[in-house]
Order: sequence, then C-alpha cells, then structure tokens
Amino acid sequence: MDLFDDLPALPETVALAPGAVLLRAYACEQAATLLQATEAVLAQVPLRHMQTPGGHTMSVATASCGALGWVSDAQGYRYAAHDPQSGRPWPAMPACLVELAQRAAAEAGYADFQPEACLINQYVPGAKLSLHQDRDEKDLGAPIVSLSLGLPAIFLFGGSKRSQRPQRYRLAHGDVVVWGGPARLAFHGVAPLEEGDHALLGRRRINLTFRRVRNPAPGRPKPD
Ligand code: SIN
Ligand code: FE2
Repeated sequence: MDLFDDLPALPETVALAPGAVLLRAYACEQAATLLQATEAVLAQVPLRHMQTPGGHTMSVATASCGALGWVSDAQGYRYAAHDPQSGRPWPAMPACLVELAQRAAAEAGYADFQPEACLINQYVPGAKLSLHQDRDEKDLGAPIVSLSLGLPAIFLFGGSKRSQRPQRYRLAHGDVVVWGGPARLAFHGVAPLEEGDHALLGRRRINLTFRRVRNPAPGRPKPD
C-alpha cells in the first residue's frame, strides 16, 4: 500500500533539469473536471494498442484529440489529422485541457504555448513506456506538457543521450511535468505500472501529453 496516497497532495515545483520541471499537485483541484473531459473524448475515439514500427504492440493504449493525433504503425511514428481507424478527424481538444496545458507551460517559463495535439495514454498495471524522445514534432521550440491522472507511476527522466542514466520520479494524480528548451529532447519513459486502486480511475493511469507539432506559434521566431 502506498502511504502517500492518503495524504493531501501539496503543490511543489521540482526542477528535473534545465528546462524541465515537475509541478506537483498542479492540477489536483480541477482533476475531476479534466478527467471528465478526457472521458468524453474517449467516448468518441476508442483507446487502441498501436504497433511500433519494429512490429511490437504497445502495452499502453492510446488515442488523441486536437487538430492532429499521434499515430504509430509499420510505416513509423507520425502525426495525422484523421484517426486511421475511423478515417474521421480527431475530436477537438476540450477547452479546460488546453487552458491547463497553457497555464502549466507558462508556470514553467514557456509563454504562449498553443498545443495542436493531445496524446492520451492509458496504463493498466504492468503497462510501461520504454525510454524515448518526443521528436516527431517539427516545432521543437515548444515544450511538452504532461498531465498525470489516476494511479501513480514512476517516470524516468534522462538526458539527451540514451546512455545517460535516467532519474526516477513518482508522478501522482494531478501532477504536471513540463520539458522544453535544453530539455526538449530528453529521453523519458514510464516504469511498469504497479497494481493499485485509484478513487476515480480504479486500476488505471491516464497520461495526457500536449504538443505543438507543425509551425512555430505566432509571435515566436521561426527556427532556421
Ligand atoms: C509519454 O512519454 O508520451 C508519456 C509519459 C507518461 O505517461 O508520463
Ligand atoms: Fe514521450
């Protein structure tokens, strides 16, 4: 049993690396609303286990909302305007999620964050995400904003080289991680989820990552 789960979470900012912060308990107050909005999206677009380009089935189940969604298949990883499963556009990103992502980005020092894609990852006990970089986005000037809901997970956060040993951080319901600038291409992943029973989500953890994909947001200089 996890004794921490019975204590009220206190907001706290933890520096992970230059450009990267963990905003502990940042979204706790609105977490139920954010979860409701997420479930409304998932009622329109089912979670599915995608294939990696290497032919593995991901243990994490994914779906997307926003103008673009992240997809993976034998052809590779990419963003697409339509859900390959239905051929339809992804559902719109709920306003409360956009607002949370923008506010957290600003809190971390990244003003004017305008996410185009929100990847919804669902973990059940045993599911994990191997160390990787988020590098399918053209706009590497914008940060990644990650919101955790449900069961706690161990987040692995390393450097820009895979060989650099990652630090381990416990991410709980309502925690937000933001990484950008010098940490934008940091390797990260999630250790196999432990068994548990969360008050709102039961045996699940849902992580939402917000990404700017295509063009630099207005007002930000274009990279050469
Ligand atoms: C991701 O890297 O896309 C997800 C990270 C997480 O689940 O915390
Ligand atoms: Fe990632």
